[in-house]
Amino acid sequence: MTNAEKLTELAKRRGFFFGSSEAYGGVAGFYTFGPEGAALKRNVESSWREQFTTRLGNEEIEAPTIMPEPVFEASGHLDGFDDMLVECAECGESHRADHLIEDNTDIEEAESLPIAEVEELIAEHELECPNCGAPLAGQDVVDFNLMFETSIGPGNGHPGYLRPETAQGIFVEFPRLKEYARNQLPFGITQVGRAYRNEISPRKGIVRTREFTQAELEQFIDPESDEPPLEDVRDVEVVLYPATEQEKESVEYIETTIGDAVDDGIIASDWVAYFLGVAQGWYESVGVDMDRFRFRQHLPGERAHYASDCWDAESELGGDWVEIAGFAYRGDYDLSKHEEYGDDSFTVFQQYDDPKTVERAVVDPDMSALGPEFGGQAMAVAEALQDLADRNPDAFDSDEVTVEVDGDEVTVDTDLANFSVEEQTESGEHITPHVVEPSFGVDRTVYTVIAHAYAKDEVADEARSFLQLDPTIAPTSVGVFPLLSNAEELTEQAHDIVDALRDVGLSVAYDESGNIGRRYRRQDEVGTPFCVTVDYEGLEGDGPDTVTLRERDSTAQLRLPVDVLVEELVAVRSG
Ligand code: GAP
Repeated sequence: MTNAEKLTELAKRRGFFFGSSEAYGGVAGFYTFGPEGAALKRNVESSWREQFTTRLGNEEIEAPTIMPEPVFEASGHLDGFDDMLVECAECGESHRADHLIEDNTDIEEAESLPIAEVEELIAEHELECPNCGAPLAGQDVVDFNLMFETSIGPGNGHPGYLRPETAQGIFVEFPRLKEYARNQLPFGITQVGRAYRNEISPRKGIVRTREFTQAELEQFIDPESDEPPLEDVRDVEVVLYPATEQEKESVEYIETTIGDAVDDGIIASDWVAYFLGVAQGWYESVGVDMDRFRFRQHLPGERAHYASDCWDAESELGGDWVEIAGFAYRGDYDLSKHEEYGDDSFTVFQQYDDPKTVERAVVDPDMSALGPEFGGQAMAVAEALQDLADRNPDAFDSDEVTVEVDGDEVTVDTDLANFSVEEQTESGEHITPHVVEPSFGVDRTVYTVIAHAYAKDEVADEARSFLQLDPTIAPTSVGVFPLLSNAEELTEQAHDIVDALRDVGLSVAYDESGNIGRRYRRQDEVGTPFCVTVDYEGLEGDGPDTVTLRERDSTAQLRLPVDVLVEELVAVRSG
């Protein structure tokens, strides 16, 4: 068995995660987190919130997961959120065409290639259906939209979609959120929740699923003036794989610091650089192995429709680099689109420190003269003239100006327009904020944390596999065992300790079955950092009762009083 197979087996057997609805044959791309997995995921999410919401001073919201169609018309997902699909003519199985190419040739990032080229590559490399072996050459590759469609309300209802990213739930609420932030930029809004994508071929367990959890931060900034506190992360050492290195087909990564990467122009946006630094610290804190972690910049053809630049955090899993988060510079793409399609204002009014006197070109056309001559289009002509005055006041230096009205060119005597330049006082301006977005896949983080924690050694000449999970996120904080299950004084004392530990919020596994070695092994396998054994020796002395505390990784044991035990474990759990 490979390590990945062992992990999947362990995940299923010990209640981390398993395919859902298996009693009904299961359905690809949907997973249930069992008790250990759900607790681990919750702890990872809490830790993310603590860093990206609380410590960074942001606010969290919770929006619906179903949204009406116009939202996704505006966001571009209806048109552009596609993957390339090829369906086998022989067995009917669907495949992602770009993955077939990546798996069977040395071409990487095939998703950025045009469809015609993908079809040619399938023919050139004589690719076959992985399911039945039939040749795929000559079959059409088509764009397949990844959103799950639904109908809102009875009957035919209104078309809606399960959100493919939590981000849109934040963008559509921007008119309320900016009020909450009192129109003060910068501000950040986070959301942790489900996202849905009808992936063509879900694979690698919980790495690519059809329903998953994202933890996203949308940072709204004034690109002209807002700066991140870059000095906080300048010294963070990172492994970067910029697009330029990938294009040169160089395998050399760049080992540098966030500060140097910004100074050397490797990372273009200070905000993106800042979030890479914060994210790396967070990943390390939840136990991602920094020797199996890097940031990779998207190649131009690979970027999502909304991003002008994007870096992925990647972790090494079973020999492959897997994207676990994306850090995109979304610019004003989303808010501008919602401004255009929606019925509310997606701009922020920024008050100047001191009101500004500005010169403004205005026209005051002679409407009675414009009326009859221009066939009742006087208002439209007047608007077009003002528009021209805003854009190009010099045009009014000529005797005539030409404007477009309903697709027709209309020429007007400049005198009729009554052009002048007036001084006006402005107290502020409307700006469309830019968005910088760190977007984390929670399931992929959880999987990485488990995979990187997976370790093997020998204890008392016996092979042991165990999870070296950080005590701050381990699903179970402590195992409590009475040495013997049939000795009342020991089980009573053990139950009292369990109660005391649960009362202070620790998650405790009580186990009295099997020999102590087996019980340790069971907890090691799910990453429980400490186990407590209650024995006769601890009850015998004149002083306070004592127990044996055993640490998972070193297997070292020490004897300590029960009251000290509770304090110590709480301190370790809180980090
Ligand atoms: N709002 C930006 C956005 O959604 P993305 O790169 O498409 O960006 C962000 O997704 C993260 O969500 C990815 O880095 C990945 O960790 C996770 N993710 C995306 N698709 C996934 C899937 N099918 N299964 C599990 N996680 C997924």
